[in-house]
Amino acid sequence: MKKTFQKLASVFVLGIALLTACNEAPPVIKDASILPIPVSLKQDTTCFVLAKSTTIGINDPQLKPAAEYLAKILSPATGYSFKVTEGEGNINLGIGTIEGAADAYTLVSNPEGVSITGNTYRGVIAGIQSLRQLFPAEIEADKKVSGMSWGIPSVQIQDAPRFGWRGLMLDVSRHFYTKEEVMELLDLMALYKMNKFHWHLTDDQGWRLEIKQYPLLTEKGAWRKFNNHDRDCIKYATEQDNPDYEIPADKLQIVEGDTLYGGFYTQEDVKEVIAYAQVRGIDIIPELDMPGHMLAAVSNYNGISCFEETGWGSTFSSPVCPGKDSALEFCKNVYTELIELFPYEYVHIGGDEVEKTNWKKCPDCQARMKEHGLNSEEELQAWFIHEMEHFFNSKGKKMIGWDEIIEGGLSETATVMWWRSWAKLAPSQTTGQGNDLIFTPNAPFYLDYTQDKKSVLNIYNYEPMKEVPDADKQHLVKGVQGNIWCEWIPSRERMHYMTAPRMLAIAELGWSANDRKDWNDFQVRMADQFSRLNVMDIQYRIPDLEGFMKNNVFIGEKKVEITCLDPTASIHYTTDGSTPTLESPKYDGNLVLTETTDLTLRVFRPSGKRSDIVKAHYEKTEYTPATTAAPSNPGLKATWHDFKGRKCADIAAAPVKKTYRVEDVTIPRDVKSYIIGLIYKGYINIPEDGVYSFFLSSDDGSMLYIDGKEVIDNDGLHAPGEVTGQAALKKGYHPIEVQYFDHGGGSINLKVCNSNGKEMPFTYLYAH
Ligand code: ACM
Ligand code: ZN
Repeated sequence: MKKTFQKLASVFVLGIALLTACNEAPPVIKDASILPIPVSLKQDTTCFVLAKSTTIGINDPQLKPAAEYLAKILSPATGYSFKVTEGEGNINLGIGTIEGAADAYTLVSNPEGVSITGNTYRGVIAGIQSLRQLFPAEIEADKKVSGMSWGIPSVQIQDAPRFGWRGLMLDVSRHFYTKEEVMELLDLMALYKMNKFHWHLTDDQGWRLEIKQYPLLTEKGAWRKFNNHDRDCIKYATEQDNPDYEIPADKLQIVEGDTLYGGFYTQEDVKEVIAYAQVRGIDIIPELDMPGHMLAAVSNYNGISCFEETGWGSTFSSPVCPGKDSALEFCKNVYTELIELFPYEYVHIGGDEVEKTNWKKCPDCQARMKEHGLNSEEELQAWFIHEMEHFFNSKGKKMIGWDEIIEGGLSETATVMWWRSWAKLAPSQTTGQGNDLIFTPNAPFYLDYTQDKKSVLNIYNYEPMKEVPDADKQHLVKGVQGNIWCEWIPSRERMHYMTAPRMLAIAELGWSANDRKDWNDFQVRMADQFSRLNVMDIQYRIPDLEGFMKNNVFIGEKKVEITCLDPTASIHYTTDGSTPTLESPKYDGNLVLTETTDLTLRVFRPSGKRSDIVKAHYEKTEYTPATTAAPSNPGLKATWHDFKGRKCADIAAAPVKKTYRVEDVTIPRDVKSYIIGLIYKGYINIPEDGVYSFFLSSDDGSMLYIDGKEVIDNDGLHAPGEVTGQAALKKGYHPIEVQYFDHGGGSINLKVCNSNGKEMPFTYLYAH
């Protein structure tokens, strides 16, 4: 936060300096704040200002779409028309020899003009995004903004991407997004120099691509009655007072009295989207997920699945039958039409989460296995994937698949998209065989996962090369990608909320050199982007309010300290449990509590759109005295229970498998089961009287008790997440208990800070 204030101060000083440096109308020029951060950026105190007569010159006819794209970005807000000319203009776009990876560029601006030179068309596009971010946020407005002068600082930028793959995947099957909504997402990707759009076009819950040979795929397979996902969304809309969970009316139609949800893209729609992406330097990777996740197809045509499917409209999964020639023919036919549409060299087969029960029972599958000497259903899956890959190659395409394509044998040429973060060997297996690898490990790259304080940081600090320590193999890492799975994301607004700002961290991780990354600086630049995203009507998630815990305690009275990284946000609160509105009291930094209070907080963006509700409990209390027991053994006692339940309170009743002495709250090394319960007990040694803050993160549930009192409730089945709480403790020993369970993967961590907010080591002891 402090850094933001410093930064605002320097903007102010610079603004005054510029008033004298520029003789145009006074422009408000800010420090250059570019995200992802460029390789190098120098700025001086002069500026370049757009005029009505400003022209865009190009040195190569292939740059015409780029110039027109730039004009389209700058025109609406300025009201200027920006003539595009071959040859010299005021803003010059050129292709030239620029050192560095493909798509490197330089950007030079001074009072006379702007010059962007890329080593490719896409380098110029990347330069355009940097130029765009030098203008005030209002440049993004879709209509004329009066009273503005459109200036940028004079800069010299040299820049090049770290990775060639900076991707985003959108699942349009579970919930559908129109071509306009997809184009809006492409615009957002382009702004942050992301260049691969992975379009997850089919799944069990809907087929979204027109295939002329099989019209029922979209006539029937694109429309369903409400399923469990829809019903959940409708429920959340009410429960959470959040209209972004409502099912948009433009995705519904009434057919013979039934309300059907859905939509699809015609092949003409797809061509439009591809052309739109190409101008913006984005490749589109289409995915028709197979052999699993095929319910929308197999329910509407015979001869594709092992047995006839009648489950259309439900949320279960059904695969194609690799034993039937008719099924293979279907798969190749749908991909033939797809390949004719999509120009990019890659297609994505899917290949994930294949439910193989039918294959075990199906005579055709078993016959196929016998015919080819396949020993397992995994090998049958690999056979199918290889068959399809040969087919793609024969059409001049390369294949990408989810990391399950490793199982049963990976072909030499496939690219693996690693998503199962628990399949820890997948990266080294892939690169060890010389195959290309794209990083999308579900935590933290699944953008449908619940967000918390750490979500952006966890992406930002992710280092793919740690998974591929062999330096000779690191060139096989093509890059990173965020995946937006849309089971519980029904609307454009919810999609934006889940995507931004996490995608900004993916963009910087993918583009910026490792030695340019700096979390504190990133946060300041991210905060700068919020004004731009507001003007663009992108409903990003406002970063978590900070300065307080979920459960706070205080002695006497408490001045509530709340901060928000987003300078455009306003915070409103209630103390009676009701949902805050814009009419509720506004938090202004002067809220003092003298009684136990439950605060309900909500943050509003300038448009009036609101964040999720945040609750904070403030308990007026006294210091809890230390125990008189004198524990003498260092560490904690951990008891491993054979636990399959979903609530920490039930762990103790489950049979005990083993007990351990542990140094701190970590999973003992030989606890390997994927379904576990652990209870840690002992004493914590408190060095002096004070209010201590605890941070308990786990996947799945956990609870923290101190002196027998609940301090943190992080219970239930959930993705990795942290919950915080406080306790007022007298110097000395206090009994501590942590309960934890997990249903696969698993992690637990407990941190404590003293009254000054400093993290301190735990000193644990236990009694026999
Ligand atoms: C996936 O999440 N099933 C790729
Ligand atoms: Zn079969």
